[in-house]
Amino acid sequence: MSTPAVFEKSRTIKTVGLNTEEVRRVAEAEGVVRVIAPGLTAHGFADFLNTLGTPMFTEGETPVVGLPDLNVVTNVGRTSKPRSVYHSDTTYVARPPSYAGLLAVEVPERGGATMFLDQYEAYERLPEDLKSLLNGATMLHSATGVTLGPDAETSARHPVLRRHPGTVRTSLFLTTPARCSNLQLASGEDRSDLIAPLYDHALNSKSIRSHSWSNGDVIVWDNRCTLHAADHSNVQGNRTLFRGLIRGEVPTAADT
Ligand SMILES: [Fe+2]
Repeated sequence: MSTPAVFEKSRTIKTVGLNTEEVRRVAEAEGVVRVIAPGLTAHGFADFLNTLGTPMFTEGETPVVGLPDLNVVTNVGRTSKPRSVYHSDTTYVARPPSYAGLLAVEVPERGGATMFLDQYEAYERLPEDLKSLLNGATMLHSATGVTLGPDAETSARHPVLRRHPGTVRTSLFLTTPARCSNLQLASGEDRSDLIAPLYDHALNSKSIRSHSWSNGDVIVWDNRCTLHAADHSNVQGNRTLFRGLIRGEVPTAADT
């Protein structure tokens, strides 16, 4: 699994109560927030996420029984160890998720943390000449590794430098290179050779935030300005989380 080189720069995940505006504000500013909500049920979790916007469901995922807006993320019943590389969720649609949330249902005795990388920071760390080169650039995001129906969206073109509608800050907007292709500059020139180095740049972050799960924990992140991954490297025991997504806007290019 690809992991950032600078773990010692780990940053704290802020905590807030079960308050929509607080969760929104901290998630947008920090990329990720921990929501303190003792005893929150899966129904309560789904209801809370819905206060952040309209739910969306990623085709091909397994829905939670009785809660069709949520999907199950689990290592239970798998014959091979799950893999997780840093990514942004479901970016191959025209309106990718704005927020995503996870509720811990069953946590392993050891391992299984979820890690987040700040993509505002990734943008700010780009060399100035690369920021200029990428001004107005777009990239194709495509579905891979999922089985989709004939009517499903399977690809969408998005700006590489994205303006966040809430914070009005610029982030580097990409996902795992397997799902990115055809990077076009504003001039029309194809610079797909930049995809792998940009991803490496994003991973070489000094702004990693990591959460080790306890039962009932709730984490919400802003999918527009973070990458995330699960650390499956040393998991011992069952790891089951319920995930919900909120439909985002059509991404806007940053006017840098
Ligand atoms: Fe994910």
